[in-house]
Parts: sequence; C-alpha cells; structure tokens
Amino acid sequence: MNNDPDDGQIHLGGKMHFSYLSVPLIVASATGVLALDGSRFLWYDAPGTDWESSALPIGNGRLGATVLGGPGTELIPLNEDTIWSGPLQDRTPPRALAALPRVREMLLAGNISAASNLTMEDILPDQPSERAFSYFGNLALEFGHGDVEDYVRWLDTSQGNAGVSYTYKDVNYTREYIASFPSDVLAARFTASKKGVLSLKARFTREGNATSNTASTTGGVNQIAMGGSSGQKPEEHPILFVGKARFVISGGRVSASKDTLTISGATTVDVFFNTETNYRHSNPKSLEAAVDSKLRAAVKKGYARVRREAVADAASLLGRAAIDLGTSPNGLASLPTDQRIAHARTGLEDVQLATLAWNFGRHLLVASSRNTAAAVDMPANLQGVWNNKTTAAWGGKYTININIEMNYWPAGPTNLIETQEPLFDLLGVARPRGRAMARSMYGCDGVVIHHNLDLWGDPAPTDHNAHSTMWPMGAAWMVQHMMEHYRFTGDRNFLKRTAYPYLVDVARFYQCYTLTWEGSRVTGPSISAENSFIVPANATVAGQSIGIDIAPEQDNQLMRDVVTSLLEAATALGISDSDKDVEAARKFLDLIRAPRIGSYGQILEWRYEYKEADAGHRHLSPLYGLHPSHQFAPLVNETLSKAAKALLDHRLASGSGSTGWSRTWTINQYARLLSGAETWKHVAAWFAKYLMANLWNSDHGVNYQIDGNFGVTSGLTEMLLQSHAGVVHLLPALPAEAVPAGSARGLVARGGFEVDMEWKDGKLKKAVVTSKSGGQLKIRVGDGEAFRVNGGRYRSAIEASKGARFVVTP
Ligand SMILES: *[C@@H]1O[C@H](CO)[C@@H](O)[C@H](O)[C@H]1NC(C)=O
Ligand SMILES: *[C@@H]1O[C@H](CO)[C@@H](O)[C@H](O)[C@H]1NC(C)=O
Ligand SMILES: *[C@@H]1O[C@H](CO)[C@@H](O)[C@H](O)[C@H]1NC(C)=O
Ligand SMILES: *[C@@H]1O[C@H](CO)[C@@H](O)[C@H](O)[C@H]1NC(C)=O
Ligand SMILES: *[C@@H]1O[C@H](CO)[C@@H](O)[C@H](O)[C@H]1NC(C)=O
Ligand SMILES: *[C@@H]1O[C@H](CO)[C@@H](O)[C@H](O)[C@H]1NC(C)=O
Ligand SMILES: *[C@@H]1O[C@H](CO)[C@@H](O)[C@H](O)[C@H]1NC(C)=O
Repeated sequence: MNNDPDDGQIHLGGKMHFSYLSVPLIVASATGVLALDGSRFLWYDAPGTDWESSALPIGNGRLGATVLGGPGTELIPLNEDTIWSGPLQDRTPPRALAALPRVREMLLAGNISAASNLTMEDILPDQPSERAFSYFGNLALEFGHGDVEDYVRWLDTSQGNAGVSYTYKDVNYTREYIASFPSDVLAARFTASKKGVLSLKARFTREGNATSNTASTTGGVNQIAMGGSSGQKPEEHPILFVGKARFVISGGRVSASKDTLTISGATTVDVFFNTETNYRHSNPKSLEAAVDSKLRAAVKKGYARVRREAVADAASLLGRAAIDLGTSPNGLASLPTDQRIAHARTGLEDVQLATLAWNFGRHLLVASSRNTAAAVDMPANLQGVWNNKTTAAWGGKYTININIEMNYWPAGPTNLIETQEPLFDLLGVARPRGRAMARSMYGCDGVVIHHNLDLWGDPAPTDHNAHSTMWPMGAAWMVQHMMEHYRFTGDRNFLKRTAYPYLVDVARFYQCYTLTWEGSRVTGPSISAENSFIVPANATVAGQSIGIDIAPEQDNQLMRDVVTSLLEAATALGISDSDKDVEAARKFLDLIRAPRIGSYGQILEWRYEYKEADAGHRHLSPLYGLHPSHQFAPLVNETLSKAAKALLDHRLASGSGSTGWSRTWTINQYARLLSGAETWKHVAAWFAKYLMANLWNSDHGVNYQIDGNFGVTSGLTEMLLQSHAGVVHLLPALPAEAVPAGSARGLVARGGFEVDMEWKDGKLKKAVVTSKSGGQLKIRVGDGEAFRVNGGRYRSAIEASKGARFVVTP
C-alpha cells in the first residue's frame, strides 16, 4: 500500500490510483483498507447509470457538466446558464385590471368559489408558461474500454473537481474534470499509464435544434463545434448558442470526419470547452469570438495551469468555512457514497455523511452561482446549472414561493455571501418588467413579481394553477435577500444603491395594491402557497376546496418584512424620518394585520380558521415568520413562537415534510425553535428518503431538485449558529445526543461576525468570535448558559472594533 502524499497520487486499497490530487486525503477504515475522506469526497466503485441519481456535478457558475464515468462511453451533458427555451415573452394578462374589483367584491361577500373562477379566467395570463431551462448538448466520448478493474469515480467537495480512474488491460487510465471560474471554461485531462495507448472518438450530440455540428483539425487546432437554437423562427429572436471543444494531445494522431474527431495512440489528451449565447452577446460574431478567445487563452495556459487556478479559486471560497460533526462509527465513512446513503435509509449513524452533505451543498452553490464582471449573472435555478434534457423538470425555473430562496439560505451563514449576487442581477432584470406588470395588472406604482421568474425576469403569473399561480408576493420575499446581504456584509454602498431603492419599489406596490378589510391593509386575490382550504358554511360554495382568498397570513408577514426592512435600511443610511417613503412605510406597518391564533393554539394560515383541505401540506407558508424570517423567533416573541410550533407540529403530524425541500425546511424550522433533538430527527428523515445516490436532493425519492441540498446545508448550520434575533447565538439547537462533540470554523453571523468553535459533551468548549466590520456584539450560548468573554463574565453587549477577537469559554 502506498500512502505517500508526496507522490501526488492517491492509492486506494493498494490498487486504485488517482492523479493530480495534491493533499493527503487518505483515511484508514475499520477494515484496514484505505479510502477517501468520507467527509469530503463523494466516491463510487462503479460508473453512474441514471443521470439524475448518479451524475456528479461540476460548474463555474455559468457552465455546468456532469460526470457518469462510463469506461466505454462517457456522455457528458453540458450546460450554460442562459440556454433556455426561447426569447422574452409578453404574458401581460389583458383583462386583469378590469376583473380585479369584481373579484375582490366577491371575496368580501364570501362568494369565494366564484372569485376563484373569475381569477383563473380573467386575472391570469392567456399564456401560462415561462421559458424553461434547457441544455447545450452532450459531449460524447467513446473510449471503448470493456471490463475494467479498480474503478473509482469521485467528486472533491473542497476543490470542485471530479474524476474517474480504472485499470484496463494492465493500463491505468484517469480522467479529471475541472470547471474553471478564472478561465471561464470547462476542462478535462485523460491519461494512460502506458505510452501511446489512449484512443477516443469525440463528438457533440443534441436531441434537436442543432444548427451545425462539425469536427476539424485545420491549422493544427483539433476541435469539434456545435451551434444550436431554441428553435423559434429567426424573426422571433430565438436563443442562439455556439459551443466548441478543443483537444490537445501528447503523442498519437488525430483525424476529423463530419462531426467526429478521432484520436488514436495518445498518452494524454486535454480538453477545453466553452459555449456562449446571444443572451450576453447580441452580435453573432462577438458570440463566437468570445467562445474562441476563452478557448485560445485556456489552451495557451495549458491544462496544468488552468487546473491549478481553478482549484485555487474554488478552494478559496470553499475553504473559508468547515464543520466537523464527529466521526462515524463502524467504518461507515470509508464506504463508497452510495452504500453510505443506503445505510442512512434506516438511521443516520454516519454523522460524516451529514458533514459531507453540508460540504456538497456549498460546492453546489459555488459551482452554480458566481458573480462576474458580466452585466447579468444567472442565479442557481431549480436544478442549479445542471440538466440533461431539452426541458428541465418543472422548467428548471426560478420558483420563488420558497425554492430559489432556499437555494440561498446557506450563502450568508456559511461564508459564501457573494454567491447571492447573481440573484440581484436577475432581480434587476425583472425590475422594469415588474414595474410594468404592477401598472397593467393592478394599476399601481412599484414592482410586483408573482411566483416564478425565468431568465428574462418575466414577472407575470405562471402556470394555470388555482393553488399557486395567483400570488403577487415574489418580490416581497426576494428583496429580503438584499436586506440579508447587507446584514451579513455591512455593505452600505450595496444597501444604498441596490437594496433600498428596491425595497421602496416593493413597498410602494403594496401601499397601492392592498385593500382595506377589518381595518387592515390586506392582499387579495392571493393564496397561501400552494395550499387550499374548505369553503365554510356561511360562504359559497360551502365544502369546496379553494386556494384563493384575501389576507393569507404569509402575505401579511412578507409585507411586514418589506416595510421593517425598509425602515431598518433607512435608519442605517441616515434617511430622515420625514422622508416620504419612510413615513409611508411607518404608516403602512401599523395597518398590517397581526397574526391570529387558532383553536389549538396555532398560527392561523388564513383570515379565518377554515377547515384544512390538506393539513399536512408540504409548504410551510404561514411559518415564514419562524424561518427564514425572525418574526416568530422564540427570542423575539414567545407567544408567536409557541403558536408557530403548534402549527408546525400539527403539519408534521399530518404528513408534511413530504418532499425533499419541504423536509429540509422543517430542519430549519425546528432549529429556529431551538430544539436540537427535533432538528436532528428531521435531518435523519431527509437522509432516510430524499437524497439520491449522488447526494442530490429529490422531490420524493426520485426527481432531482437542488433546493433541498441547500436547505440541508442551511439547516445543519442553524443547529450551530443563529443570528436573526439580534444576537450571535452559539449552539442554539445542537443535537447533543447525536453530535456530542465537534467543531466549526468560519461560520458567519449577521453583523459581520465570523465564528470558530468547538463543543464537547453537548456543550460549548470554546468559541472565537471575530468582528469583520465593527459594531455591537451580543452573544448567547446554548439555552442561555453563563459564559466568559476573554476571561471575564459576559453580562451585556460589547462594542466591538473592526478586527477584534473575542474568546468565549464556559
Ligand atoms: C497502476 O496502478 C497500480 C495500483 O495503484 C500500480 O500498482 C501500478 O504500478 C500502476 N501501473 C502503472 C503502469 O503505473
Ligand atoms: C439524460 O440521461 C438519461 C440517463 O439517465 C438518458 O436516458 C437521457 O437520454 C438523457 N437525455 C438526453 C436528452 O440526452
Ligand atoms: C362567516 O363566518 C365568519 C366566522 O364566524 C365571520 O367572521 C364572517 O364574517 C362570516 N362571513 C360572512 C360572509 O358572513
Ligand atoms: C357569486 O357570484 C356569481 C358570479 O357573479 C353569481 O352568479 C352568484 O349569484 C354569486 N353567489 C352569491 C351567493 O352571491
Ligand atoms: C367554477 O368553475 C367550475 C369549472 O368551470 C364550474 O364547475 C363551477 O360551477 C364554477 N363555480 C362557480 C361558483 O362559478
Ligand atoms: C426545437 O425547437 C422547437 C421550437 O422552439 C421546440 O418546440 C422543440 O421542443 C425544440 N426541440 C428540442 C429537442 O430542443
Ligand atoms: C407578540 O406578538 C403579538 C401578536 O402580534 C403581540 O400582540 C405581542 O405584543 C407581541 N409580544 C411581544 C413581546 O412583542
């Protein structure tokens, strides 16, 4: 067995071999066999078969690829974040404004079913669908290898790269895949341990609407190139794209025929890929020039340097924070990842699998959401940036009635705050369209966005669904991410230039749009995403199950957050109390309906205590105030947190948590209720059902959707550190029994505090809190235990200067 880290190779089980990994990664397992670090690597001893449950994703934010690692054929789906199904659509509902007063009258009169019908007929757009996320195509590689031995396929969550190695006919072959942010290309290196035995055929494939597909060796440039389109007629301005892969070989021969490049007798083959679209390059020449110039620069740098820079970049973000939830028993962590997941179906003893899922969530965020110098970067969609179909499931959209928000929950707390910035680019694209929509649908100033966006920032209602479509609250939720950005970074320039003006636009919309009912300003027609209720006996038609009403509780909470954020921002920016937007916000705040508490002590989801149509609904919309908002936090309002718990317990007892993302929301919710044991129960429930063999989150055991991956990273973090209630709360919901000892490094609290800590026997042992931007520091430990700061008893808030460190001990 070779365990020498200095040879730059990794040897597994005395046989398997990895190139290009530069740090010692090997841990001893219980069986004495060596394995990859189970907190850091996903790895498998067989190629993947099914794309959605076994592909290993890499990406640089804009470009994505997934690796299945077949020895004979390697089919790599390639993605670019603006290859969608078509151009901007105008889906403005033509009859909405005229129908609005009639619908409201019906709702106020209790004619609920008729109001729902009229909403569906007249307020919703005639064209229900937004554009859908598509794919570039596949890079199809034929290696022709048959029965291989010592097969390993891996993904390194601390560097963002993936690879394959195996032995075939006594030759060791490796493949490594890199997504480079600095070079803005994808790259790969294929090697053989014996000179001149590496042969392959390469071409691009696509299901349809490829406009050209060629291979060439002209001028010594070995290249395949494919052009494609979203398929509309030229005068409809389809999305157009061009992608190219260049092959640099050492040894061997290359020839081109039609769309295929054939390489034979090489020793090493390096591949560089880029694709660009007319979303960012309006001129077809500049589009192709951008493809070429990035490829030329990457080829000139060479694989080794492209790789070094890519890994250094990814590691610089991923390495900012780490958690250690302890060591798994019985050698579980040294098993291949799919076997560990199978084991976790019956209980989560493998705590390192939870650490791995946390690391994987951060890798996915860095790989699918990066800010660049481009005018518009795309945020992570329902599938991040990975899809192998013409049309991704659920359109691969930006669904903003929970899902895309969930994508960004870990950004601040796990020290990746800049990954949020593409979200603000998309909100910027949506802003003028949301302003036009507010005017045409509701006759109002300000900005409105409904429950989805596509790459064009299309804010119109989407789908034709009585339980989800009619929801004018998307901007209210999304703009909270701008406020959170400020709370984590203290960036006043961002607050002033981006967040505050957006908050003003959103607040203005609700001040105009809302109607007065029982002395409050309320929304309607609206829904409580995506739930329904039974129409009561004194309304029409009694007994029907309906989703549309006025004043759903979540809408009240969202509007409250919009105006309180606006006021918080105004204070931070020194905007005068007599400013008209500030005055209007303060007035409006007093008119927002307070939460009501129902017959068993629960937060009421609707304006009345309607009979529930689906008591275990997967959406926890009326509990937005508990998480992600702070309105129902136990440290903020004990009465409301108790009522939130009553509803949450009821929801769960009735079957909620029934999709991957829903289950991870319950993890975050119970962490906010400061219950470690309950939180861990839901962590274990997620591992028992919702993650697939490649650690991707699924809807119900199948159907990939990325939100739950981010939800679990967020939820695990919420066990260790919370900061939404104006206090840096260390170990607020530690599951002391499951995770008695561990550590965390580089977590971030609002106010710009970075936190390192260790715990033992379920109690804090030591923490170091560093102030990044100066300001008031309040600390709480566990459930209010006494503690010391820099040796002295902590009694009250500390004025922290920038850079100051505070050592917290029991
Ligand atoms: C192939 O890998 C095996 C296992 O790591 C190693 O023992 C062998 O020397 C390698 N062969 C070559 C030609 O590098
Ligand atoms: C996506 O991958 C699956 C394999 O899991 C395959 O059956 C399907 O054909 C692929 N789709 C496309 C469009 O290539
Ligand atoms: C229906 O009953 C509720 C609860 O008793 C009451 O508050 C409401 O005003 C009634 N609605 C109508 C339309 O009469
Ligand atoms: C509800 O509205 C419909 C459509 O306007 C009307 O036909 C019906 O009579 C109304 N029902 C009640 C009970 O007001
Ligand atoms: C609502 O529309 C459905 C389906 O078209 C119809 O069956 C029902 O009678 C309508 N209800 C009311 C109250 O208008
Ligand atoms: C080709 O484009 C047309 C028109 O946009 C579209 O309907 C069809 O789904 C596309 N097919 C593929 C495989 O992309
Ligand atoms: C908690 O919220 C309720 C309902 O909004 C309110 O009446 C009460 O004053 C709040 N309590 C505190 C301590 O803020």
